[in-house]
Amino acid sequence: MSTDPSEKPLSSWWRHAVILVMVLGFGLLTVVTVLTYTNAPPIPERVIDSAGATLFTRENVEHGQEVFLKYGLMEHGSLWGHGAYLGPDYSAEYLHRLAEVARDTLARERHGLPYAQLDPDTATSLDAGVHRLLKENRYDPATGTLRFSPAEAAAWEVQKTEWAEYFSGDKPAPGLPAKYIRDPHDLADLNSYFAWAAWATVANRPGKDYSYTNNWPYEPAVGNRPSASTYLWSALSLVTLLVGLGAVLFAFGRFDFLGWHGSSKAGHAHDSAFSRWTLTPSQKAVGLYFGVVALLFLLQTLAGGALAHYRVESGAFYGIDLARFLPYNLLRTFHLQLAIFWIATSWVAGGLFLAPIVGGPSPVGSGRASSPCSWPSPSSSSGASAASGWGSTTGSGSSGSGLGTRARSTWTSDASGSSCWRSASWAGSS
Ligand code: HEM
Repeated sequence: MSTDPSEKPLSSWWRHAVILVMVLGFGLLTVVTVLTYTNAPPIPERVIDSAGATLFTRENVEHGQEVFLKYGLMEHGSLWGHGAYLGPDYSAEYLHRLAEVARDTLARERHGLPYAQLDPDTATSLDAGVHRLLKENRYDPATGTLRFSPAEAAAWEVQKTEWAEYFSGDKPAPGLPAKYIRDPHDLADLNSYFAWAAWATVANRPGKDYSYTNNWPYEPAVGNRPSASTYLWSALSLVTLLVGLGAVLFAFGRFDFLGWHGSSKAGHAHDSAFSRWTLTPSQKAVGLYFGVVALLFLLQTLAGGALAHYRVESGAFYGIDLARFLPYNLLRTFHLQLAIFWIATSWVAGGLFLAPIVGGPSPVGSGRASSPCSWPSPSSSSGASAASGWGSTTGSGSSGSGLGTRARSTWTSDASGSSCWRSASWAGSS
């Protein structure tokens, strides 16, 4: 088959398929985004105890979330299952302690004994009482007030101390430096944030028999078990995945390796492209990009290795207290950012490499693609990673657009390129 695309125009099915995928994909994303916001659990204006005293407010919850983000806790543990896996799932952990404190509070209230000393029958009936108590939604949308039962208020109070000890005690949390969060207001608000997040996992949605998080996490101590729709949607998503894979494989086999012609006249759409090709200067120069990719990949896997090592020795790295220099959350950020950078660089490099094959002759001066100012450099990657690691979005944003600018300027006219790249302008002939 010819490598010159002008000889045989691409099937219009490619365009149709792209439009269909874009419309369906973005349509679905829009629906899901709207549903995410409309179905989100409410953040109460005030959370009060049974006597009407304010325990914490909406501001406390929102500030607690800022603390959570500021200290990169999403890269250490998780919340509602989203995040990293060295630390705990904070909402699940809070929920479990809530169950323990609630059991004890109720056992003392009703039987004058700690839960552990109840006989099995009394304990079972008390468990059912704990489920009912925590599943009941006492949020009043009219006033924006959520009323905590005495057991919930006690759990909030107890955990204030426990989470403060976890983050600011002498014994460091796994993978974090000792005394990581010191401000008592930050710590108190973090606890309120966890309290709200845990409430949303157990209190039933209005008019439903499952919680705002569809009974996630599984926690029998509070009566959180998978709902019928959990089974249904899990099964459906698996079926959708398998049907989707089958459809792709069917189309691939049926339409001549996606040449879309549906006959066996032609072989693979690009079968001979590589066998008859000698490298152009621009393709040779792209080797440098792949060098950058290899370096970034190496750094990423080294970071991955160090992350994995935290599982084995969370307080030391072969005798070095790594958490003081590269705490788990920061290192995990680097690990993920470096992946983005080497994958982005590979895309640019792949595009540069394939362009002469797909588009024909090489540009004049294409060998100058190796000019250092046209590289997505490791320094820009690590700089952006470092910046984002410390909470700045500017670093990664500017580097990302830098990559985009370079890719664009390479394949459009010199007028849109950077001054550096203009010298190797596209002339359309070799
Ligand atoms: C030697 C190689 C690697 C090792 C030892 C490694 C190790 C790890 C570890 C320990 C985590 C942290 C899990 C957590 O706490 O959330 C992680 C997360 C992750 N790694 Fe790697 N990794 C390696 C290579 C890679 C590569 C090549 C990629 C991508 C191209 C990658 C992408 C990711 C991603 C996306 C996450 C986040 C996963 C999530 O949040 O669910 N890793 N890796």
